[in-house]
Amino acid sequence: MKKLRLDKYLADMQAGTRSEVKQMIRKGRVTVNECVVRSPEQKVDPAEDTVMLDGVKIGYVTLEYWMLNKPQGVVSATEDRRERTVLSLLPDAARKDLFPVGRLDKDTEGLLLLTNDGPLAHALLSPRRHVDKVYRAVVSGVPGQREQEAFAGGLDIGDETETLPARLEILGVRSFEADARETVVPSPDFSAEVRDWRDADEQELPGRCSEVEITIREGRYHQIKRMFEAVGMRVLFLKRMSMGPLNLDPDLEPGQARRLTAEEIDALRKAEHR
Ligand code: URA
Repeated sequence: MKKLRLDKYLADMQAGTRSEVKQMIRKGRVTVNECVVRSPEQKVDPAEDTVMLDGVKIGYVTLEYWMLNKPQGVVSATEDRRERTVLSLLPDAARKDLFPVGRLDKDTEGLLLLTNDGPLAHALLSPRRHVDKVYRAVVSGVPGQREQEAFAGGLDIGDETETLPARLEILGVRSFEADARETVVPSPDFSAEVRDWRDADEQELPGRCSEVEITIREGRYHQIKRMFEAVGMRVLFLKRMSMGPLNLDPDLEPGQARRLTAEEIDALRKAEHR
């Protein structure tokens, strides 16, 4: 493996910013192969040398970040004895130590970040960081101001505490007479969703459904489904569109994945340090 400067090695491994790790090195807190090294420019070979900070080994792990457009029917886990997992959708060359940042239900589609960057994942999922997650959904019936206010005020969904304020925007209402479904004209940015929704069990399709956008800051189990249940409605289709600064790439078909760009990784790191 290519040699790199000791300060870059430590900064890459999130030991601190470049100037912070320079200070750590100058103070004698860093050893390379058990010898104290005080010069940040010293070159190290990540495959051969043992770098320690305050006596704790800092291995060099290449961090990876992937965006997946999760399709329905796969589970957000790294392994599962019965079900196909989201990891099975990444190319074989991708690392085996990746994990999904948060969970989407088996029947939920959309943006899922996969990484091996534990601190970043932790920060993005922390309710205290308030990272917005935006979802599009098709719900039974027609929500209005009453439901918008209920979402904004916090809902009792059977947990110890009410949900944090959430935003509910109504994008459109459609009629679904059983034999007139073919006449439905999907909104341009929602066509993929309507595809699956038309195939849904007829019992699940009442006379009228609505397309909505929901913004939440938490990630509780079945949160959006339970929020709609709390206002007497059902979620028929759910797709995550964004998480903090990261937006689902419209060119990714369900089941497709790509590495994040450098700009996307930078934007996530800024959200992490907010
Ligand atoms: N809320 C849900 O109910 N399900 C998801 O998959 C994500 C958010």
